[in-house]
Amino acid sequence: MRTRLLPLLLLPSLFACKEEAKNAQSSETDPTVEYTGTDGSDGTDGTDGTDGTDGTDGTDGTDGTDGTDGTDGTDGTDGADGGTDGGTTSLYEQLGGAAGVNAVVTEFLTVVTADARINWFFANAGPNLGTLLEEQICEATGGGCTYTGRSMLEVHAGMAITTDQFNALAEDLLIAMDNVGVPYSETLDGSEPADALILALLAMQTDIVTDPDGSAVYFNQLGGHAGVTTVVNAFLGNVGADARINGRFASTDLVNLGNLLVEQICEATGGYCVYSGQDMLTAHAGMCITDAEFDAMVEDLFATYDDLTVPYSETLDGSELGDTLALTLAGMRGDIVETCP
Ligand code: HEM
Repeated sequence: MRTRLLPLLLLPSLFACKEEAKNAQSSETDPTVEYTGTDGSDGTDGTDGTDGTDGTDGTDGTDGTDGTDGTDGTDGTDGADGGTDGGTTSLYEQLGGAAGVNAVVTEFLTVVTADARINWFFANAGPNLGTLLEEQICEATGGGCTYTGRSMLEVHAGMAITTDQFNALAEDLLIAMDNVGVPYSETLDGSEPADALILALLAMQTDIVTDPDGSAVYFNQLGGHAGVTTVVNAFLGNVGADARINGRFASTDLVNLGNLLVEQICEATGGYCVYSGQDMLTAHAGMCITDAEFDAMVEDLFATYDDLTVPYSETLDGSELGDTLALTLAGMRGDIVETCP
């Protein structure tokens, strides 16, 4: 491993290796990635295997000499296994078995949790996510486990995951591997055991990414979680400065309100969020909010659009980006405005 973190620019080229990764998975029903000697002649290469390991460190030249052909450079690593134990060591064992995989997954989830680009996805993840990831990796690397979770297609459907978000997660995996000291090669050329696992995971991209460039789902068009958060924060700033209604929020926890608004908009616009607040009727019951106050708040939203240059049409006819969100919020009037005696 020559870099602590693969540069983002390099990731697209990794994804170009997708076909290679698919080959690494022997089949859909048997996704095991065996990391054994590729053929009988690797037995001879067993000695070379030691050199193969060196290859990672930039001494690939050794492999070049030892190999009767260029590809033996890669096989050198396989040879190491062959020489040591007849080429039957599973990739799982090479990754350190249960303890090694647990260390990578634990660190991976820690890194993901700190990654604002994608951590919000996991706000409501089930408690078994780590265990399921370990099972999945164990199964895919010949550790003899059976993955008991849902298929990648099923579990990620409806999350509107973009290619950038997938890349962010892949990057986090590499950071986790760096942090726990699992080497991988920069080009995933197979010179490190973990290369095959990373390629196998990258090959799942097509089942996981459902809105590649973020153009299909309204939530992503709005800029996803970061975009909606920006709109909400600017909106609350405008509301706070609006003397017509800011008194209503004098004792409100604005951070909590902001989080709930992001959740609500995210859920309403097709993002992967679960709104955890009260319904609008219950939340505003007894406040006697007038139509004029509601109108003031809608005006504050349009002022926010103007501030952030989010386009919207005069008639909210759906022709501009901001229309649907404004209509969604305006549609809540009936549950929020209350005529009191
Ligand atoms: C190769 C990449 C990925 C792999 C191998 C993977 C694997 C998994 C697995 C095994 C589960 C648990 C399945 C189950 O509950 O039955 C899961 C759940 C989940 N994944 Fe992924 N995933 C990947 C990429 C992503 C990406 C890119 C995101 C979002 C940016 C994501 C978000 C989630 C979330 C939020 C859950 C929890 C769902 C729930 O508990 O309801 N995953 N993933």
